[in-house]
Amino acid sequence: MPTIAKSLFAGDTAKDFSIATPQKRRLRSNSTAEDEAPTTPPAKWKSPRRCMHSSPKSVSTGIEKEFCDKLVTSSRSPLKKSSDNLLAKSNWNPRDSEQLRVVKEALHVSTTPSSVVCREEEVRKILDFCKTCVEKETSGSLYVCGCPGTGKTMVMEKVKQSLVNWSSEAEVQQPDVLFVNCTSLTNTSEVFTKIVQRIQPKKKINGSATALKHLQNLYGQGGQLPSKKMMLLIIDELDYLITRDRNVLHELFMLTMLPFSRFILIGIANAIDLADRFLPRLQSLNCKPTVLTFRAYSKDQIQRILQERLVALPYTVFQPQALELCARKVAAASGDMRKALCICRSAIEMLESDVKEQARTIDTPLAENDSSDQENVPAIQHSKEVDIVRVPHMVVALSKTYRCPVVETIQSLPQHQQIILCSAVKLVKEGKKESAVGELNKSYESICKSTKLRPVGILELSSMCKALHDQGILKLAQSQKGAKVTLKVNAEDITFALQGVRFFRNCLQ
Ligand SMILES: Nc1ncnc2c1ncn2[C@@H]1O[C@H](COP(=O)(O)OP(=O)(O)OP(=O)(O)O)[C@@H](O)[C@H]1O
Ligand SMILES: [Mg+2]
Repeated sequence: MPTIAKSLFAGDTAKDFSIATPQKRRLRSNSTAEDEAPTTPPAKWKSPRRCMHSSPKSVSTGIEKEFCDKLVTSSRSPLKKSSDNLLAKSNWNPRDSEQLRVVKEALHVSTTPSSVVCREEEVRKILDFCKTCVEKETSGSLYVCGCPGTGKTMVMEKVKQSLVNWSSEAEVQQPDVLFVNCTSLTNTSEVFTKIVQRIQPKKKINGSATALKHLQNLYGQGGQLPSKKMMLLIIDELDYLITRDRNVLHELFMLTMLPFSRFILIGIANAIDLADRFLPRLQSLNCKPTVLTFRAYSKDQIQRILQERLVALPYTVFQPQALELCARKVAAASGDMRKALCICRSAIEMLESDVKEQARTIDTPLAENDSSDQENVPAIQHSKEVDIVRVPHMVVALSKTYRCPVVETIQSLPQHQQIILCSAVKLVKEGKKESAVGELNKSYESICKSTKLRPVGILELSSMCKALHDQGILKLAQSQKGAKVTLKVNAEDITFALQGVRFFRNCLQ
C-alpha cells in the first residue's frame, strides 16, 4: 500500500474530526496515467507494482485463480451476498447498444449514485455540523480533505440535499446554499463576488475587492443584513484560492468570524495540512476550521460501491472476480473511486472490441498459421463466453491505466522476441532460473509448434536474445558450458504484459 494511503488508513480509529496526518499534495485523479508515469525508464527494470508509484500489488500471473479462489471460498465475506445477487441475474447483451449505454451511464463519474455507501459516517458528521450551526444560528467552518476520488464532492452534494430536506422537516429556517468550484473562477477573489451575488442578486459590485469590503461591512455591523438566513458556503477545490499572500483564503475563513456572520463555510481540497500551512493566522486567532479527512477507499469499499452502482441493472455485466480485481488494484494504488469507475468502463470497451472481433472472426476465419495480424490484440476468450466483462478484460483495462515502462516495452516487442520471453517464463516456472540457450530454444520451438508458427533458427534466436539483453530484459552470458540466459525482469511482469496480447492467450496457461 502506498505510504499516503497507509497514513490515511492509520487514522482509522480516530473518532473525532481532527485527524490531521501530514500528507504530500497529490495529483488530481483526472491526471492521465501518462502524466503519472515516469518519463525515463529506471536503470533496473522494476515490477509494475513498484514502478507505478502506487500500482497494483500484483498485476500478475494467477490473477484469475487468486480472485476466483478468494471469492468462491470466502463465505464470511460481506460481499458474498451481493456477488450471489449479481450471479442470480441473467447476463446482459453487450451487442445491445441501449444496454451498453445504460451500463456506461451507471458507471459514469458524473452520474450521481442514488445512495451514498461507505461514506455514511462522513455524511453524518458534516450534516450534524451544519444542523448545529443552523439550529443555533452560529457561523462556523469545516475543512474537508482527502485524496482525489474519495467522494468529497459527492458527499457534499448529498449533505446539501439532506440539509434542505431536514430544515423543512424540522421547521427551521432553510439555509441558503452556495456551491463554488474554485477551478471555475477567473481570479481568486471572485469568490467574494459570487457570495454577494447569492445574497443580494441585484447589488452592483465593481470588482472583487469591493465585494469583500461589502461583505465585511454587512456582517461586521449587522445593521443592513439582507436576510437573517444562514448560508451554507461550499467552496470546492479550495487550494485554487492559495495566493502568495494567502489573503483570499484567510479573508474567506474570517467571514465566519465577523460579529453578525451567518456563514457555514465548508472548504474542500486534497491537502490534509492546508489549514496548518496556509492559515496560521487563523490558528493564532483561535478560529482554525475543524478538519474532516476522507480516507482512501479500501478494496471492500470500492467493490461495494461498484456493486451498488450496478445493482439496479436487471442484468449481470461483470464477472464478480473482475470487479474484485479492479477493486483490489485500485485500492492498492490510490483508493480513488474515479479511477475504479474509469477502469470498469474501459473494461467494458475491451469486451465491446472483443465482441466485434469475434463477429469479424466468424465472418472471415483466420488462416490457422497466419498469426501476424493477431499481435497486440487483447487476449480475451473467443468462445460463447464473450458476454460479460471478465478478468482478462479487466486485466487489459488495468494495464492501460497503470502504465509501466517494462510492461509497455514487452508489449511492443516483435512477436518472436515475445515468444522467447514466454519460453523463458515457462522455464522459470519449472524452477530453472538460468537456462542454456539450447534449452530455451526447445521451449521456444514448442510454443511455435503449439501456435502453428514457423520457428526461427537457433542463430537467429541467439541474436534476438542479444537484442533482449541489450534492452535489459534478459541476461545473456557465456559460460564454460555455452551461452546461458537469465530473466532480468520479473516473470510476473512478462506474464502480465503478454496477457494483453491475444496471440499468447493459450501459451500462458
Ligand atoms: N461512496 C461512493 N459511492 C458512489 N460513488 C462514489 C463514492 N465515492 C466516490 N464516488 C464516485 O467517484 C467519483 C469521484 O468522487 P468525488 O468527485 O466526490 O471525489 P473527490 O474526493 O471530490 O475527488 P477530487 O479530490 O479529485 O475532487 C464520482 O464519480 C463519485 O460519484
Ligand atoms: Mg472533488
